[in-house]
Amino acid sequence: MKIALFGAGRIGQVHAASIARNADSDLVAVTDVVESAAKDLAKSHGAAVLSPKEILSDPSIDAMLIASSTNTHSDLIEAGIAAGKAIFCEKPIDLSLERAKQVGAAAQGYAKPIMMGFNRRFDPNFAALKAGIDQGDIGKTEMLAVTSYDPTPPPIDYIKVSGGLYRDMMIHDFDMCSFLFGMPATVTAHGSCLVDSDIGKAGDIDTAVVVLTYADGRIATIRNSRRAAFGYDQRVEVLGSDGMLSVENETENQLRRATADGITSAKPVYFFLERYMRAYEIEWAAFVESCKAGTPVPATIQDGINALALAEAANQSLSTGQSVEVTPELTSA
Ligand SMILES: NC(=O)c1ccc[n+]([C@@H]2O[C@H](COP(=O)([O-])OP(=O)(O)OC[C@H]3O[C@@H](n4cnc5c(N)ncnc54)[C@H](O)[C@@H]3O)[C@@H](O)[C@H]2O)c1
Repeated sequence: MKIALFGAGRIGQVHAASIARNADSDLVAVTDVVESAAKDLAKSHGAAVLSPKEILSDPSIDAMLIASSTNTHSDLIEAGIAAGKAIFCEKPIDLSLERAKQVGAAAQGYAKPIMMGFNRRFDPNFAALKAGIDQGDIGKTEMLAVTSYDPTPPPIDYIKVSGGLYRDMMIHDFDMCSFLFGMPATVTAHGSCLVDSDIGKAGDIDTAVVVLTYADGRIATIRNSRRAAFGYDQRVEVLGSDGMLSVENETENQLRRATADGITSAKPVYFFLERYMRAYEIEWAAFVESCKAGTPVPATIQDGINALALAEAANQSLSTGQSVEVTPELTSA
């Protein structure tokens, strides 16, 4: 498959490496509003620097990978659909749920794959946990706990345009809950600013707990913080009638030191690039496989809308202090 990459930033570079590692995909074009960024990345992969117009009108390009800034995603997905390309797009579809739903409507009935970049679904540990639930390892599932703490907050300029913690950061955890437990019936959100007062001054929170309840009585909790002194903390635990499945952090090394002073081990790997590098590669392989085999993509536009709808419900719950019902209208395109 011939691939064009939109966005040569942090995650664009990761995806370019995944494309290169996949025997069935070839990076042929890169575009970025910062031309030097596009040139550098294109050069290191033997690709051309093209304009979006050139990419969209080139019939030899099979797919576009959208890794540009969030505010470009919805327009680029629509342009890709109009041009007949297969599309892989980073999360989120848009910061506006209404706009994301418009994109969902435009994608309805589209014959080519459109996949959203919910990379954690492809982390081998979380994928094994999901397989364990599906094959009944722990009987009937009852409770889910997702912990997701970043090592340090992003720059304040990023916070100001991020769409807020629920849409920017917890969106991955909302998707993890949907992936493992399906869509909830209610969302109840709590949030504080404890890490950096500038985040509070920018109107955002940096510390949050959200409780999701399900129609059959199951409960999920998500805990987020923009700071963890020991590194990137990414854990999931599921309790069921016959036991528990849990995924712990990946550490910098596997050494466990037991002495008379106590037992210690290495810190978790630093951040998402270190923790999820393998997941990004598997995610890309899954997209290529769906394109080749014509099978459904494992993270759809509807999954993108669902995660954004839960973030929207969390924002509403935080501002009203009430639980918010997840109605079909909230998520329908
Ligand atoms: N799934 C994940 O784990 C994950 C991780 C990081 C970022 N992301 C998402 O990926 C996207 C990019 O994030 P990033 O951290 O790489 O940001 P970044 O700022 O490092 O890179 C974004 C790039 O897009 C370019 N760009 C902006 N407008 C463009 C346009 N119209 N056409 C082409 N290029 C354009 C910018 O110049 C920049 O080089 C965001 O939507 C973010 O939410 C996802």
